[in-house]
Amino acid sequence: MCGIVGYIGEREKKEFILNGLKELEYRGYDSAGLAVLKDGEITHFKAVGKLENLVEKTKNFKSEGFGLAIGHTRWATHGKPTELNAHPHLGEFSYVIHNGIIENYQELKKELQEKGVNFISQTDSEVIVHLFEENLKNGKEPFEAFEETIKLLKGAYAILLITKADPKKIFFAKNLVPLIVGKNDEDEIFFSSSDAPLIGFADEVIYLNDKDYGYAQKGEIALFSEGIKQETLFKPLNIGKLSAQKDGYRFFMEKEIYEQSAVSSETIMGRVAKDDIVLEDIEDDFFADIKEITICACGTSYHAALATSYLFERVSKIKTTVEIASEFRYKEPLLLKDTLFVVISQSGETADTLQALKMAKEAGLKTLSICNVDNSSIVRLSDKTLLTRAGIEKGVASTKAFTTQVLLLWILSLKLALLRGAIDKEYFHKERKIISKVPEVLKVDEKIHEKIRRLSKRYLHGHGFFFIGRDIFFPLALEGALKLKEISYLHAEGYPAGEMKHGPIALADSELFTVALMPKSLLYDKVKSNVEELSARDATILALSPLEFEIADDFIKTKGYDHPMLEFFEMSVIVQLLALEISVRLGNDVDMPRNLAKSVTVE
Ligand code: F6R
Repeated sequence: MCGIVGYIGEREKKEFILNGLKELEYRGYDSAGLAVLKDGEITHFKAVGKLENLVEKTKNFKSEGFGLAIGHTRWATHGKPTELNAHPHLGEFSYVIHNGIIENYQELKKELQEKGVNFISQTDSEVIVHLFEENLKNGKEPFEAFEETIKLLKGAYAILLITKADPKKIFFAKNLVPLIVGKNDEDEIFFSSSDAPLIGFADEVIYLNDKDYGYAQKGEIALFSEGIKQETLFKPLNIGKLSAQKDGYRFFMEKEIYEQSAVSSETIMGRVAKDDIVLEDIEDDFFADIKEITICACGTSYHAALATSYLFERVSKIKTTVEIASEFRYKEPLLLKDTLFVVISQSGETADTLQALKMAKEAGLKTLSICNVDNSSIVRLSDKTLLTRAGIEKGVASTKAFTTQVLLLWILSLKLALLRGAIDKEYFHKERKIISKVPEVLKVDEKIHEKIRRLSKRYLHGHGFFFIGRDIFFPLALEGALKLKEISYLHAEGYPAGEMKHGPIALADSELFTVALMPKSLLYDKVKSNVEELSARDATILALSPLEFEIADDFIKTKGYDHPMLEFFEMSVIVQLLALEISVRLGNDVDMPRNLAKSVTVE
């Protein structure tokens, strides 16, 4: 979703801003812009489409010597991706960039228009710069005018504003979406909506809290909350998360599929001991008196939640409900204090999940986040966190984040099972051995990848895909379908295999592609009957199974592990590769599919 960078110092500002925006590119965007304030003058550029277009437009522009700069990638919410709607938005002498959504922008805009202010974009963000200038015209000092502006805004925002009225400062504000301020000992100041653009530049950072605002100028970062000056507590920037490179793979998504084996070892490391599960700084007490679990998430993370909810009930013997965060927020849910509230989020910034977490906290529930990004908003808000340790994920379609989430939740289900006496040591030791095999199972089998590459050409048309499975393979079917639709733009649905006969089977004909997940270790015969019902109606079947299946039109033979979770991980890789290869054949942008964003910080 939108990305923000800002800079104060001597460095070539255009380069810093463009490189920073490049680091944020994977989040998804459809236009970009920047503005530089130097020697009292502001120069700005905007371009629709890829960042290269902005690079081209700025190629003859130089911005050496002391000055300020702001840059933005926009993912359209209000108004189409056009140059006028791209950030920075301009007033008469000030420029603003904004992530988030200003919910009351229509009222604010109307009031300003009645005073004669002219708007040139369709965005909600433009009100910020006009409100600021209006406050200035009413005699306020620049910082006061900014403070007054922020007070009027309702909704989510990370804002950077520069103005000729105070040409040495960047004004900033944050609520509900992330904003980081960084500095180094060369007196440079940096802003960004995530860590990546700051690596190699800032030594120390502050992750701003909601409602924080202030200004920065050479030698000074002034931070305020509700009118009161705050101490600036910087902490070292974690440089472990070096920016990801493709390392010879065609796409980040492909690299990330191949990385799953290595990162799953990280997920397990130190957590699965000989006789127990050890969860970092989470004491066993934390789980005392828990009667139920609610897991809340969106998209792929929701699928990880659904898959592992089977384990929490079957293995840990604890009632588990799974909720889609955007639904949960408004259903007036019954929040009981003896429920453990688990949120799952790759990015740790998903607005719906974050708000659901806030609701649970306010209701006094114990909260636990499963997350891939340390220091993200969700991590900071939850009582306890377990990091998936998948490393930065750049492909918009999530892969390694998903498998590490499932793995970590499986480990958690064993912890709860041990604590509740739902399993004995013997069962635990068997599971422990199985878990240690996961990195091997997640290794991409080159022969299977090659087979999928060849098969993919037969699946570029048709009127749709059904991915079907039972039990934990039903959520995997949902995930396989989501991966495919995200990057191929073909219609795909995930369905419980046994449910097809209650309606969807009416769609069956040779142009309906069914991807059947047929593990041998779980309900094989049941799924087989369901697939036969579809085949009898001439649906085209692509079966994934270790057991030969004659009526399949195409068949991917899996290794046939004895444990459903191992079969689950093996098939996860296969459905990911299938989506990847179909997308490649269709010539799509695999890593940055249309209309999607990596980090969904709006409702
Ligand atoms: C799918 C995908 C999305 C995310 C969803 C939640 O490939 O990436 O469906 O899973 O937007 O994001 P997080 O996990 O960051 O909360």
